[in-house]
Amino acid sequence: MTERLLPTANEDERAFEEGLRPRRLTEYVGQTRIVENLRVYIKAALMRSEHLDHALFHGPPGLGKTTLAYIMAEELGVPIRCTTGPALEKTGDLAAILTNLEERAVLFIDEIHRLHPAIEEMLYPALEDFHLDLIIGQGPSARNVRLILKKFTLIGATTRIGLLTSPLQSRFGIIERLGYYSFKELSSIIQRSARILAVEVTSEGAEEIAIRARGTPRIANRLLRRVRDFATVSGTALIDRKAAHEALERLGIDRNGFDEIDMKILETVVRTFSGKPVGLKSIAVAVGENPDTIEDVYEPYLIQNGFLSRTPKGRVATEKAFKYFGALPPKTQVGLFD
Ligand SMILES: Nc1ncnc2c1ncn2[C@@H]1O[C@H](COP(=O)(O)OP(=O)(O)OP(=O)(O)O)[C@@H](O)[C@H]1O
Ligand SMILES: [Mg+2]
Repeated sequence: MTERLLPTANEDERAFEEGLRPRRLTEYVGQTRIVENLRVYIKAALMRSEHLDHALFHGPPGLGKTTLAYIMAEELGVPIRCTTGPALEKTGDLAAILTNLEERAVLFIDEIHRLHPAIEEMLYPALEDFHLDLIIGQGPSARNVRLILKKFTLIGATTRIGLLTSPLQSRFGIIERLGYYSFKELSSIIQRSARILAVEVTSEGAEEIAIRARGTPRIANRLLRRVRDFATVSGTALIDRKAAHEALERLGIDRNGFDEIDMKILETVVRTFSGKPVGLKSIAVAVGENPDTIEDVYEPYLIQNGFLSRTPKGRVATEKAFKYFGALPPKTQVGLFD
């Protein structure tokens, strides 16, 4: 049984990730179009000595949204203040942060789709005109106070763009979706991480790990860490293709990088429903996972890699998915794959 490769990071993993995080745009591998555009926007803001437009990054977990936010602050040469949607509980929390931001600083709000409605509303004028309207006091003595803020850049990140309200979305000048990384890009991330961790990995060893990283830098780094442990224990100094392959096999990492949930989804559509269209909710019940997580985290990778397709009637296992289990697609379903 493969284990879950997409868990939330614990303290130890967070520190590990922190050490591998690229600090500058030149170190950030892949997402070429996005990086080139950001380079232009940052340069323009610096040339005009202005704050950068508000930016929103969305896409599945572990693809480098937080990393990009830190890099942008670094490239702009400004401080960054970080918080998350659910951490902002009272309007006062947001007011305290906003009034303390330095001119042109970056405010990073992770999980921005989880902002409380009252906080979101307070954010609108702050984003648009850099002011805050506060109500001081209660009852008949209550009065409105307008606070003028320094110009700042909000960077929002979310794995769930669909949950962002349109008034909030419309206040971002830059909206970018991060996509999965190619094997080549993941190999170069692994080689970069190996240099930082002082482990020797051949390019073939890196490729072997990259193939199973599910298009995700976070997973690539985690797999490298595990393979390194394995190499240490078995006394192997160099991680070449053979060493990487053996370690990954013994760790039970699936050859497509699928984790437990991916496997359960595929088993559901291939075996339980024998290739018939299945609704998202039915998959969620069978898998024991939240439908939103399946839709936002798991499905995009399976669809992109041709294991699953979306039809108006529901999710359908593809021929590739049947082959994966060594099964033949039922004849009645064949037409669905044309
Ligand atoms: N383009 C990249 N080049 C090199 N390393 C990267 C890149 N993107 C991400 N990483 C590595 O992957 C790890 C995870 O990235 P990050 O935390 O930025 O993902 P995220 O999109 O914010 O994920 P989440 O949605 O879970 O918050 C980072 O610690 C970093 O080391
Ligand atoms: Mg993040």
